[in-house]
Amino acid sequence: MNLIFLGPPGAGKGTQAKRLIERFRIPQLSTGDVLRKAVADGTLLGLKAKPLMAAGQLVPDEIVNGIVEAALDTATYQKGFLLDGFPRTVPQAQALDAALEHRGRRIDHVLLLEVPMGVLVERLSGRETCPKCQTPYGKDSPPKRAGICDKEGERLVVRPDDQPEAVRRRMVEYETKTALLTGYYKARGVVRPVDGVGSVEDVEKRIIKALE
Ligand code: AP5
Repeated sequence: MNLIFLGPPGAGKGTQAKRLIERFRIPQLSTGDVLRKAVADGTLLGLKAKPLMAAGQLVPDEIVNGIVEAALDTATYQKGFLLDGFPRTVPQAQALDAALEHRGRRIDHVLLLEVPMGVLVERLSGRETCPKCQTPYGKDSPPKRAGICDKEGERLVVRPDDQPEAVRRRMVEYETKTALLTGYYKARGVVRPVDGVGSVEDVEKRIIKALE
């Protein structure tokens, strides 16, 4: 199964992706996670991406397209994938289409997580993230020990792009560039809208139902 997770910043894409990959045994590919690792490792990619990400701006299409296309050819993603945070622009979606067609594959479902702006801002202002495995924690899904990742035992951090000014910019980027993808994929009948408000468990149940 080849899935895309679409939804604004803070909609719960990362939270739900971490649960779905265990349930469906398909790997997640989060361009945000790949870029944050590159920033942490101080690679050339990380150096280019760091100021853009901290300001809440998108990284250029050709960079992220290259990351995803290279990943599609690795053994990990041959039996399916869950794309989280990609595509984010129409040119990225077109590049993905071309890359999949070339490999005889296609997108089966686009999960669209719908959450109102007020809830998004509240969630992002309370988020802490594991710098190692990127698991997000929040008021409704706290770690067992305050400030420590359940899986890695690492001290949790606040992402630089969760500062209010960067959050505002990310919302604008979403509205002006990423929201257009709903229409792009609706034309193919693959969009599955899911109400993203409610407990993490309830949202997960809705996603499973939407995929049935
Ligand atoms: P990325 O990492 O993709 O971030 P995002 O899309 O802005 O999404 P978030 O990770 O902020 O939110 P989420 O929907 O995953 O929510 P989460 O599960 O954490 O991208 C970051 C940056 O990288 C971009 O700004 C850009 O610079 C760059 N980038 C990445 N991909 C790119 C691309 N394709 N092109 C160009 N640039 C790219 O949940 C949020 C909070 O809410 C958490 O605290 C969580 O615990 C809580 N929560 C989740 N679900 C619930 C619930 N049901 N009830 C209550 N709380 C909940």
